[in-house]
Amino acid sequence: MAEDFDVPLDETTIYHADASCCAEAMFHDYTTAYSEFLRDPDGFWNNIASDLQWFAPWDTVLDWKFPFARWFVNAKLNITHNCLDRHVSNHRRNKVAVYWRGEGGRERILTYDHLYNDVMQFANGLKSLGVSRGDRVCIYMPTVPEQVVAMLACARIGAIHSLVFAGYGAAALNQRITGAQAKVVITADASVRRGKSIPLKPIVEEALIHAPTVEHVIVLRTQSPPVSLLPETEIDYYELMDASPKGCPPEEMDAEDPLFILYTSGTTGAPKGIVHTCGGYMVGAYYTCKYILNITDNDVYWCTADPGWITGHTYGIYGPLLVGATIFMTEITPDYPDPGIWWKLIEEYGINIFYTAPTAIRMFMKVGEEWPDKYDLSSLRILASVGEPLNPEAFVWFYEHIGKNRCPIVDTWWQTETGMHMVTTLVGEPMKPGYAGKAIPGVVADVVDREGRPVPPGQGGFLAIREPWPAMMRTIYNDEERYRKYWKNGEKPYYTTSDLAVRDHDGYIMILGRSDDLIIVSGHNIGSAEVESALVSHHAVAEAAAIGKPDPLKGNIVKVFVILREGFEPSDKLTHDLKYHVRQTLGPISVPAELDYVTALPKTRSGKIMRRVLRAQELGMDPGDISTLEE
Ligand code: WTA
Repeated sequence: MAEDFDVPLDETTIYHADASCCAEAMFHDYTTAYSEFLRDPDGFWNNIASDLQWFAPWDTVLDWKFPFARWFVNAKLNITHNCLDRHVSNHRRNKVAVYWRGEGGRERILTYDHLYNDVMQFANGLKSLGVSRGDRVCIYMPTVPEQVVAMLACARIGAIHSLVFAGYGAAALNQRITGAQAKVVITADASVRRGKSIPLKPIVEEALIHAPTVEHVIVLRTQSPPVSLLPETEIDYYELMDASPKGCPPEEMDAEDPLFILYTSGTTGAPKGIVHTCGGYMVGAYYTCKYILNITDNDVYWCTADPGWITGHTYGIYGPLLVGATIFMTEITPDYPDPGIWWKLIEEYGINIFYTAPTAIRMFMKVGEEWPDKYDLSSLRILASVGEPLNPEAFVWFYEHIGKNRCPIVDTWWQTETGMHMVTTLVGEPMKPGYAGKAIPGVVADVVDREGRPVPPGQGGFLAIREPWPAMMRTIYNDEERYRKYWKNGEKPYYTTSDLAVRDHDGYIMILGRSDDLIIVSGHNIGSAEVESALVSHHAVAEAAAIGKPDPLKGNIVKVFVILREGFEPSDKLTHDLKYHVRQTLGPISVPAELDYVTALPKTRSGKIMRRVLRAQELGMDPGDISTLEE
């Protein structure tokens, strides 16, 4: 069956990174590594997991009862023991764990020992507020070292953290706090962005109006004069820390206990609370940092993702700490004070591994190579990308102007739900611009048709994962039905990614985009349904439809079509108000870039908006099968 997303396979130029950058690759070659994994998958994961320290070993590596998996059955561990204790008890005690840079040249340096002590003391602070194993803690903070401490402190005592990106608005935050029934919220007075401070606490206050489970709010205060706190419920971050004893033994967690919840936008209804567990997630994060990003002991590693996203969890914090790396993190945006700032930071800190997103690369392309050319980027060994397809032009620019025709580019395909890398090109393997690569050892990927049958090379299909993997989500918080929908049990079971893909004759996978109504804007997932419901919550709006429209810089932008209620007329002022309303509700990343007023929307006879038809109309394409379209 030919699909409308079939793409012709052009001849692609193949790139080979310089041998000097690949000398420390963990896999000798893909084919051997992959066949070793296939020969004995349990043995493969058993070996990786054995690098880490466990309080009690597993009885079996995997217990798989479709669609539910348990990994490292009955093993006991604490991820912070592996991120911290394991290092401070050996040669990494005084190694830098985190370099942090703020705007205006502010710098903070935390050694492993320092981080370890802060985490334990803050963990005791959480305990003193009544937080214990299994309780949910919402973290809504800017990118500062305290955010890392807060996350690890939760993990230390077995509390389940749920980070919410600090760019989300009050309604989105409320939905995530109440969804997880959080007991405590950890926040800051403000974040700093492009020379301005952006208040966070008022957003939290608004979000807490209807959030009955929250007992305490911990506030990191950075501004002067300090913001005032409500005596019964709000407490200063450092006062709590200082009042707490030092030293806190790690809680012994079962491998299958939840480690965190992270909300991600769905195509319908409320966001989904993706649940990751202690054992499998730890093994997946460790494995991919070591074998895919190839982080070694001497590297200074920078992942530009905010810790509020899954990339920030796995590759900003947990993974690099598991391998004992030095992390560089910053609140500095790529264009402030000028578009050379990130290259300046790479030079200054001698960054070796740089993991970023296509949208940033395209922004840098636009402003020109004179910016990176001002700085010495010779410390770089490996470049990596995530979040959306890395288009060939951006690949080539990144390769030539940042990697100087030396560094491999690891284009990693994965999801909040997968917890870890799934498809990419291993360091040292030939790279094809536009193609993420192949399933990594440990993962079985396929491109299938609607019935789950593999499609031949060159034919578009749905990207599917055939076998469970350790860092897979275990469920959706309080919504097992929604979890089950990810797995299909055809001839052979598989996990549905909702991404469209095509494979070439060498097995390289190109990601073509989403097959559902998720819009990826600058690498961030935005649900059409979320934007639509934010719009209809405005008194002037009767109905709304949101679609993604391709954009050369952001990958996609959100475009909305709005039907007004009786008595309202389209105007520039109203357009501005509607965009502002979405901003207040969901946050700046979800604001529609384009807004059209319409008098009707294409719908099925059962009344569902056919976004596909709107999208086709917008792009001047064939709408495909419209037999279900209402007259
Ligand atoms: C997209 C981010 C192409 C994809 C880790 C996926 C990508 C969604 C890539 C998950 C990539 C992520 N190439 N597309 N290298 N990486 N995507 O949950 O559509 O924020 O399903 O996880 O981003 O987004 P999420």
